[in-house]
Amino acid sequence: MSELTVSAAIEARRSIRTFTDAPVPDADLTAIVTLAGRAPSAWNVQPWRYVAVRDPAIKARLMGAAYGQAQVGAAPVLLVVYSDMVGALEVLPEAAHPGMPQAARDGMVAQVRGIFGGMPPAMAEGWGNAQSYISIGFLLLAAQSHGYATSPMLGFDAAAVKEILGLPANATVPALVAMGVAAEDGFPTHRFPVDRILRTV
Ligand SMILES: Cc1cc2nc3c(=O)[nH]c(=O)nc-3n(C[C@H](O)[C@H](O)[C@H](O)COP(=O)(O)O)c2cc1C
Repeated sequence: MSELTVSAAIEARRSIRTFTDAPVPDADLTAIVTLAGRAPSAWNVQPWRYVAVRDPAIKARLMGAAYGQAQVGAAPVLLVVYSDMVGALEVLPEAAHPGMPQAARDGMVAQVRGIFGGMPPAMAEGWGNAQSYISIGFLLLAAQSHGYATSPMLGFDAAAVKEILGLPANATVPALVAMGVAAEDGFPTHRFPVDRILRTV
């Protein structure tokens, strides 16, 4: 199947909560998450991390943490997206662009670590969570482009999700994303007209 253009993926995407038995091969999963990882972030911090859950027993536990939302258990792949600012700041030297002179890279790393180090942890966590939604947007469109439907979710107990997967204590969980081949059409897209959301001055 040929990949959809960005515009076609945006037009076709809608939340899908039932899936066929068709698997999501590792090659497709890797390609989709690679594209999600191409999202931009301030200072290129890239705090998002993905756990792809295929194990039915773990999906069943996560479904419990998501208040029984059936798509969590039913999707061939359940992506748990989390933001790890502590881990991201540790590997920040790798995120500094190799095209920059070394002194500029070192300066950027020191500056960014200083900014976040002087911030209440909850503020840094909120910042990382916001950056991670950019990656989630890329993920939804990348999946659609590769022929997979998704259901992004915020309806879950983040502490329980973190405990089930052993995520770092500082992690935030901006979304669970169920992914697979659609077994339903979903609701037709219903959005405000552009003049509600755009003003040119
Ligand atoms: C961040 C986020 C959280 C959401 N949480 C849930 C959820 O917990 N359960 C659910 O069934 N749908 C959830 N949705 C789906 C929205 O209800 C849906 O995107 C919206 O109604 C627009 O419909 P569409 O995605 O089909 O275009 C969520 C969507 C987003 C973007």
